[in-house]
Order: sequence, then structure tokens, then C-alpha cells
Amino acid sequence: MERIIKEVILTEKQIAKKVKELAKKISTDYKGKEISLIGVLKGASLFLSDLCRYVDVPVTIDFIAVSSYGSSTETSGVVRILKDLDEPVESKNIILVEDIIDTGLTLNYLISNLKRRNVASLKVCALLDRPNKRKVDVKVDYRGFIISDDYVVGYGLDYKQKYRNIPYIFSIKPEFL
Ligand code: IMP
Ligand code: MG
Repeated sequence: MERIIKEVILTEKQIAKKVKELAKKISTDYKGKEISLIGVLKGASLFLSDLCRYVDVPVTIDFIAVSSYGSSTETSGVVRILKDLDEPVESKNIILVEDIIDTGLTLNYLISNLKRRNVASLKVCALLDRPNKRKVDVKVDYRGFIISDDYVVGYGLDYKQKYRNIPYIFSIKPEFL
């Protein structure tokens, strides 16, 4: 494992601290309301499960799975729903939970898709943001960390489906990509 690591970008401790901060902000903003956290599978699953246990307003969780055509490290923008939500979102306060926003294409698609379902409100919470790569403008309401160009894995993020289980986030040496 160690031999493929270029740099540890975020440690377990840094991630845990940020997740609690984000949960606190969400709890303050939605005081007296109920929220539904919608995780984008599979990347956001670890982040969502940590985040939801520190939110202290009533929470429901649901997941959506999308595939975006493209290479293993770059999105094409053509998005397809592989698994839709289990529950209707009409009249609910939705927070879309993503692992990372890169080009913004996936999120842009999901936002317009969910808005058509007459949600009460819709906000975005992303652990990582790579604004350098943005192709479409998306508003990130709750952002964990801004990161640079290197492809990163760990804490839910994968490279060819691997490394999601690693508890910290790291970049991979280019010869292993
Ligand atoms: P976007 O549509 O380009 O914003 O891409 C978003 C999706 O691409 C994320 O939800 C991730 O699944 C994936 N992705 C983008 N950058 C990375 C990365 O550095 N590591 C792992 N997955 C990434
Ligand atoms: Mg993702």
C-alpha cells in the first residue's frame, strides 16, 4: 500500500474534525426542521455515515447512484442514474452529499434532476472541492476542503473501485494511475 502513496492529503484526524464542523453548521442552519441527506454512491457513503451521526436535527438518509461515462479519472458529463432514491423527496429539505466536486458535471445534473421533483429546499455538502477543474458553476453550501489537481483516493474515494476503505485521503504516484 505505502509504495503507491505520493502524499497523504488529509489525515483521519483532520477529516473527523471537519466532518463534525460541517455537521454542526448544518444543525444550526436547520434548527427546528427535518432534513434528508442524500449520498451519491459509492464515494460519499463513508462521509455521509460519519456526517449524519453528528447532525442533531431529525435526519433521514437515502442514496442515489450515478455513472458518468469517461475514463477512470475524468468525467464526461453524460450522467445516467443507476439506482434512484428509495423515498420521494417532494417537499423535503434535501442536502446532497458528495465526496468530491471536480468538473461539477455530476452535481449539476443531480441538482437539476432533484429540483424537478419539487423539493422544499436543496443544498450541497461536499467533503472535497477541486475548483481548478470546474466546467460548470455549482454552488457548494457546505464544503470540507479545497484540494489541488492530484487525483485522490481513500475515505470513500476510489481508483478503479479500490482504496475506498483507507481511512485517510492520499494522492497516488503517477506510475500507479
Ligand atoms: P465531476 O462530475 O467531475 O464533478 O466528478 C465528480 C465525481 O468524480 C466524484 O463524485 C467522484 O466520484 C469522481 N472523482 C473526481 N475526482 C476524483 C478524485 O480525485 N478521486 C476519486 N474520485 C474522483
Ligand atoms: Mg462520486
